Parts: sequence; structure tokens; C-alpha cells
Amino acid sequence: MSARHFLSLDDLGASGIDSVIASAIARKREAPTDRPLLGRTLAMMFEKSSTRTRVSFEAGMTRLGGHAIFLSPGDTQIGRGEPVEDTARVLSGMCDAVMVRNHSHAVLEQFAAYASVPVINGLTDRLHPCQLLADLQTYVEHRGDIRGRTVAWIGDGNNMCHSYINAARLLGFHLRIAAPEGYAPDDSLVRAAGDQVSIYDKAQQAADGADLVVTDVWASMGDEQSREARLADFANFQVNKALMSWAAPDALFMHCLPAHRGEEVSAEVIDGPASVVWDEAENRLHAQMALLLHLLEAGA
Ligand code: CP
Ligand code: NVA
Repeated sequence: MSARHFLSLDDLGASGIDSVIASAIARKREAPTDRPLLGRTLAMMFEKSSTRTRVSFEAGMTRLGGHAIFLSPGDTQIGRGEPVEDTARVLSGMCDAVMVRNHSHAVLEQFAAYASVPVINGLTDRLHPCQLLADLQTYVEHRGDIRGRTVAWIGDGNNMCHSYINAARLLGFHLRIAAPEGYAPDDSLVRAAGDQVSIYDKAQQAADGADLVVTDVWASMGDEQSREARLADFANFQVNKALMSWAAPDALFMHCLPAHRGEEVSAEVIDGPASVVWDEAENRLHAQMALLLHLLEAGA
């Protein structure tokens, strides 16, 4: 199958990321009223909860003149055991692209192998590349090119952290990761990023002089059973005013949301002057509209 997928940032590469972000910024500013995806349909399969991903893809398809269909396991034959390979082939015959949010990245890859239309990763246990497009767009809008800058990742070495590692490798910014023992990111991704990624034990070491400080929930979807243990394990990894004071004076704060104030971030940081989380959330819409246009070759 030769469809262009977006399962990880590597599927776009550095030039593709740059072009999608430039297109997102331009279309956000110009707000064109063309309908380049008129008559096109995006199927959206969600195995996990979502606010931003669902609404941004659905609203984005509406703005582009197309249509989005929300599918959940409870309402489809997938939930009753229909094989992913069969579902991929059936949806490919009816829709122009498929967005998938599921538990297993391996299953997403299996789905994509059988799909003849573009498949978009809307978050798996391993990666969350759509969020990175929005984060990178937000950084560019506020501070310009992220190349050569220093980003601090504070907290879990999870799907978001993995996508930051890939972005650091592809775009050439320095990522400093501080995670508690036992919560380090995937070693193969870290090694592939070479000098672009450094791992620290203490949050202060990672935040020192950083241009951007990023965190995420301490217990991702699927980690609920270990939530109590994680609250204790991550206690020294909260992004608060004291930690932000280590960062550069004009450092930005990002969080993919949903956030837990008082856990991974203090209210004074997420609701304070360094925080750009609302722009970051809105940019899910703009970045993904540009991504859809890029994948469907309908402009951009
Ligand atoms: N950031 C993000 O992906 O949010 P949702 O889980 O609400 O889609
Ligand atoms: N790491 C989080 C991101 C949510 C958008 C999770 O996987 O639940």
C-alpha cells in the first residue's frame, strides 16, 4: 500500500514538519474560506478518551469543507473483535483518511499496513506526533525557529516525551529530560537522537537555562492502576515557580492537556505569564488542518 501515513514525525521529516507548520501559521492568519476538502471524509477511531484531538479533527474537517465520523469500540464491530486488517480495508474503501487513537502503537502500524488511505496517529502508548506539530507551531509563533534552542521535558518518559525526542532529533534542538527512576523514555529513541537528547535525575538540571519547559500528566491513559505510586514517585518533578526560575527569563511553558494542577504543574505556572497552553491547544486545529491538506495533497 502506498498511502502517505502520519504515524510518527519521521513520516514527515524535517522539511515536511517545516512546511506543515508554515502552512498552519499562514492559514491561521489568513483564515481562507476555500473548501479544499469538499466531499472528503475522515474516519476517527477512538479507543481512548479525547477532547482536543476529537474536536480539532472534526472542526478542522468542517472548516476545510469535508466531514468527520467519530467511531468508538462500543459502537463498532472493532469492539466485537473484527480484525484491524479488515477494518482498515473497509474504511479505506469509504473514507479519504483515518485518524486512530488506540492503546497499542503496534496495532496502529498493523492498521496502517492494510489501509490504502492516509492513517494519522491521534496518540498511541508510544507517540503523540499531532501534539508535537501544535507545540512546534506554538513555539515558532511566540519565539521563532526552535532549532538550536533548549527544551526541558520534566516528568514521565511517555508518548509525549518520545515525540519530543523525535522532534529534537529531526529539527536539531536540545532536549533535556528529567524523569524519576523507572520512568525513563525508550532507550532506543534516546540513542537514535544522539547528542540532541540528555537525561538528568533532577528537574532543576533539565530546566537550567531552558527556552521551553514542558510536562505532561504523571499517569497517562492506561496507567490508571499505578496512579497512587506515581504520585509519590513524581513528587520532585512538579513544574512550579521555583523550577521555572531555573529556566531562561523568557522561557515558555507548555502542556498538551488535560492538566492536573497541583500535580505535574502548579496553578501559578499553568495560569501564569510563561504559559502558552491555550494557544498550544488551539493550534491542534490549525496544525492538523495543514496536516490533512498535506496528506491529501489538496493544497498546502
Ligand atoms: N492533548 C490531547 O491530545 O488532548 P485530548 O486527549 O483531549 O485529545
Ligand atoms: N500522555 C498522555 C497524553 C494525553 C493527551 C496520555 O497518553 O494519556
